[in-house]
Amino acid sequence: MNLKEIIIIAKSLVANDKGLLAMDESNPTCNKRFAAAGIPQTEEFRRSYREMIITTPGLSECVNGLILYDETIRQKKKDGTLFIKAITDLGIIPGIKVDVGAKDLAGHNGEKITEGLDGLRDRLSEYFQMGARFAKWRAVITIGNGIPSRGCIEANANALARYAGLCQEAGLVPIVEPEVLMIGEHTLEHCFEVTEEVLRTVFRHLYLQRITLEGMILKPNMVLPGLTCPKQESVDAVADITVECLLRAVPAAVPGIAFLSGGQSGELASARLNAMNVRFKSRLPWALAFSFARAIQQPALEIWHGEESNVSAAQKALYHRANCNLFARRGEYIDKMERI
Ligand code: 13P
Repeated sequence: MNLKEIIIIAKSLVANDKGLLAMDESNPTCNKRFAAAGIPQTEEFRRSYREMIITTPGLSECVNGLILYDETIRQKKKDGTLFIKAITDLGIIPGIKVDVGAKDLAGHNGEKITEGLDGLRDRLSEYFQMGARFAKWRAVITIGNGIPSRGCIEANANALARYAGLCQEAGLVPIVEPEVLMIGEHTLEHCFEVTEEVLRTVFRHLYLQRITLEGMILKPNMVLPGLTCPKQESVDAVADITVECLLRAVPAAVPGIAFLSGGQSGELASARLNAMNVRFKSRLPWALAFSFARAIQQPALEIWHGEESNVSAAQKALYHRANCNLFARRGEYIDKMERI
């Protein structure tokens, strides 16, 4: 393990106001999104969709890293070039999702535990050989009647920390993703309380497992009211409370925080990230970046619709969203960018 290199990669992932693009949907998740958009759910359609993404002109101006999935890291462009080579040739760092999904947590109705620790050391070593330099593991926390429970938060935090330790041992930067879901009627304040508790627990477990905080990236949810909460808050209110929560719970040694989008629209995700950077950037110990999947991909997916003739228009839409987030990192995103 070379910790110095891991620390350099972690910093590079959030350097130059760029962020990460998550294109690591598992096959079932990708198929679900394809089905909703009326696209056939086959390996070839998934491959050509991913080729459309990675060949987007200008993508490397906006993102430092791309998160792949096991199927994708083995796939090739039509011309025979491995995706991972094409990505590396662009100067983009390839990453890989390594959890195997959130499953029902025994004895905890309505709660999930993320699995994938068994055999992880060998899988990480294979991904490193293939050229991946960072990894991702997502834990899911649901807010609901009497949940989340301590048991669920602790179990997920422990798994995240064990995953992070194995990543650093293998030379990969761990992206640590504890996602408090937006689904529900809960208020902004309730999301704040749960997110703070989750983050504090995650960092306690990361400490216990001897994780080098300088060599990791945190991928949290923004603090948001539940989707069905009657009181939806302003962009600035979300920015303020999210930063307050992170300042309480995330050690200054962490180089970067790259938000997930979690089902927010692309425009709202950019506006909220922008507001955080406008209001706080010069006073924060860590970079506030993005690691969005849906908030960057969704318009492009709908335009592409599985058809070769739509590739160029879809790539323009993808670039647009990635570029909006580059501007949001600088605190220079404005509404008008959406109307050009
Ligand atoms: P969303 O931005 O669509 O929430 O996805 C981020 C991600 O990588 C989930 O693990």
